[in-house]
Amino acid sequence: MAQNDLTLDTITAFAKRRGFIYPSSEIYGGLAGIYDYGHYGILLKNNIANAWWKSMVRDRDDVVGLDSAIFMHPLTWKASGHVDSFNEALIDCKSCKQRMRADHLLEKYSINADFMPLDQINAELNKLRDQNQLKCQFCGNKELTEARQINQLVRTNLGVPTKQLQEMSEEDIVYARGETCQGIYLNYKNVIDTMRVKLPFGIAQIGKAFRNEVIARQFIFRTREFEQMEMQYFLAPEMMQEKYEEWKQTRWNWYLEVLGLPEEKLRWKKHDKLAHYAKEAYDVQFNYRSLGEFAEIEGIHQRGDWDLSQHAKYSGQNLEYFDQKQNKRFIPHIMETSGGLNRMVFAVLDAAYTNEDLGEGKTRVVLKIKPALAPVKVAIFPLQKDEKLQGKAREIYLDLRSEFQSEFDDSGNIGKMYRRQDEIGTPACVTLDYQSLEDNMVTVRDRDSMKQERIAIGDLKQYIWNKINA
Ligand code: GAP
Repeated sequence: MAQNDLTLDTITAFAKRRGFIYPSSEIYGGLAGIYDYGHYGILLKNNIANAWWKSMVRDRDDVVGLDSAIFMHPLTWKASGHVDSFNEALIDCKSCKQRMRADHLLEKYSINADFMPLDQINAELNKLRDQNQLKCQFCGNKELTEARQINQLVRTNLGVPTKQLQEMSEEDIVYARGETCQGIYLNYKNVIDTMRVKLPFGIAQIGKAFRNEVIARQFIFRTREFEQMEMQYFLAPEMMQEKYEEWKQTRWNWYLEVLGLPEEKLRWKKHDKLAHYAKEAYDVQFNYRSLGEFAEIEGIHQRGDWDLSQHAKYSGQNLEYFDQKQNKRFIPHIMETSGGLNRMVFAVLDAAYTNEDLGEGKTRVVLKIKPALAPVKVAIFPLQKDEKLQGKAREIYLDLRSEFQSEFDDSGNIGKMYRRQDEIGTPACVTLDYQSLEDNMVTVRDRDSMKQERIAIGDLKQYIWNKINA
């Protein structure tokens, strides 16, 4: 299979077969748009999240961390505009019954439906219908329903329910957060009061968000439960453009240097249409081979003073900042970097998955992932099933695993053991043979080049450390 032939089915099946990502509730037939992360999946996801936290919080003086609750006061979502306008318009095909997002369908006719009201969406669809152009993107049938709008907030209730969910009014409902940043806005005042921060400063958090996505059929790209990594940067409006450019550069570099994504697979996409409060917005897009297109991985947005003004208005609290130097009070403006952790996991897998031709009709699947992100850093094998070799190899394994995520495999077939580690992207495999018992040297095999070299057992930790940090 050539590099460009990676399909969504291949990557989805691979992720399941190798314990990265499973469809949720599979024994009950699954739950659309929800996925579970297996052992290697959570190791990879944590590595990405930790790398983000390091560069966004630990390595900076101007950003503090937060972990706010998934549930917030329901007025939060009224103030943010989500209750009234966090909608998706959908259309059904009357023939194949497939459901489509109206904005995605209109995009096929080069019509940008961002922030378009429902009646205008239907007017655009009707124009295409009248020109006999409108058709189902799946089966080509021309009988499509009118577009109708669905609110994307996921609703539930807390405490003892006294009514059925469908009988509840807005006052009874709480929402599973639709974006993590609202928890940051609600804690802005707490952070100002407790953390000795001064503008400009940021608050960062990683956490789950929930959206009733109408269409959720692109593996982990668009799901109904997902994780965001968001940083909201509070500043005086006159600093916005300078800081915005700085953050765009910082985030771009992060994708190259930390996630190790190839630059030619990344691009900026400027938003043509903006929310009424936004001044400028760009997305970082990644070219997913398995989706066959560039798609958004992170948004970097100037949000003005909309968020804090809205929460000040709805809560009745004063959320102004007092600038001592200028002796002036104002609502800080906000710029955000808002990335999807699951989309990053997907991008890393999509870019790294390699079906390599080894010649003589042999192939191998190898995950050419950046060593620092690899779920397992090193695997240790005794060459044969022999008590002495197994015992010594296990000793080395126990020593290495105190520092690195390590694996021990003594199932005996060296070829298979290598292949298993190649598939999960383990940068180094260490094999112990009879010679090792005499000279304290082991064979280390490199994942990508498959070259082998002899290394002293005492030098192994440094060797692996260098590989991870190369
Ligand atoms: N606070 C701004 C905000 O939430 P967004 O563009 O709606 O902006 C930010 O979301 C990021 O969250 C996206 O770039 C994407 O990576 C991720 N994301 C959004 N919806 C998602 C979904 N249904 N499934 C997976 N990731 C999603």
